[in-house]
Amino acid sequence: MNEVAVARAAQALIAGHLVAFPTETVYGLGANAEDSSAVEKIYRAKNRPANHPLIVHSSSLDNARYWVREMPAFAEALGAQLWPGPITLVLKRSRFAGDFLTGGQDTVGVRVPAHPVALALLAEFEQLGGRGVAAPSANRFGKVSPTNAAAVHQELDQFISDSDLILDGGSSTVGIESTIIDCTSLLPRVLRLGAVTASMVARVTGLSLSTEGAPIRVSGSHSSHYAPIAKVLLDVQALPGDGFIALANHPTPEGIVRLAEPKDTAEYARVLYAALRTADSLGIERVVAITPKGDELSDAIFDRLQRASSNLKS
Ligand code: TXA
Ligand code: MG
Repeated sequence: MNEVAVARAAQALIAGHLVAFPTETVYGLGANAEDSSAVEKIYRAKNRPANHPLIVHSSSLDNARYWVREMPAFAEALGAQLWPGPITLVLKRSRFAGDFLTGGQDTVGVRVPAHPVALALLAEFEQLGGRGVAAPSANRFGKVSPTNAAAVHQELDQFISDSDLILDGGSSTVGIESTIIDCTSLLPRVLRLGAVTASMVARVTGLSLSTEGAPIRVSGSHSSHYAPIAKVLLDVQALPGDGFIALANHPTPEGIVRLAEPKDTAEYARVLYAALRTADSLGIERVVAITPKGDELSDAIFDRLQRASSNLKS
């Protein structure tokens, strides 16, 4: 790890600049979560609607408490056992979590990411007096999340300033965004599927998961989210010239551009977004994805593929 780059990035955050950084899920575009004008820069760089809440990242469960007013026992268990890791907890916000972070909602999303560079950055930032780093995925609004530094440059170079930084920590190992769990009711509720599965949440909390409640604003739940330029079609016959994403046990049809052949669902999640980006960089018009099946990570992958394949634009 480049400690000098991490130290410089922590200072940049304190000074009110943006820092894109690697996490194990996807790259985030970070700003000091206490600095409204820094956070405002995130919305501008992403072209993201101002009412979409951001996740606040901390280096530990204890530091995450600063942003939270009530931590039910089951949320405590999730944080203690699954952090650092690919799970975000939505909790009642403390008075420190401003409307500019939460989209005016009375809740805040918090996460301790597992990537060593992210953890080093957060720890250094906290050393300098910072309390948390607000960070959405480092893509323009509605686009595919970046899973490596080159993809962040491609998405954001023209929308950030010379004082903003992009840290390179290699390719994200999970590859899809964190699982989001609403912890504001009696039972945990899944708001976004991810690598932490519903059964893991049930096992850690000892509770069954709620399927009730009013829909909460989650920008990832817009149907057009995560969409590449190419048209994405699921589980149909690929035609010559199409891009093709499927598990390795599916042979590549004649005349088709194989974009990824992951050997299992974990690898499928890891390579999916990069494969969709490759399709766009090759100018491929249609991508056929054969959706994986049979385990819970497949459900999370299916969720992202469905959004990528949606024609709706929001
Ligand atoms: O894996 C991840 O979660 C990545 C990395 C960078 O941590 N971040 C990420 O952020 O995916 P973003 O903003 O692209 O997606 C976070 C989702 C958004 O859809 C947002 O609406 C939802 O989390 N969210 C944040 N705070 C929330 C809250 N208080 N209530 C409900 N949803 C919330
Ligand atoms: Mg996002």
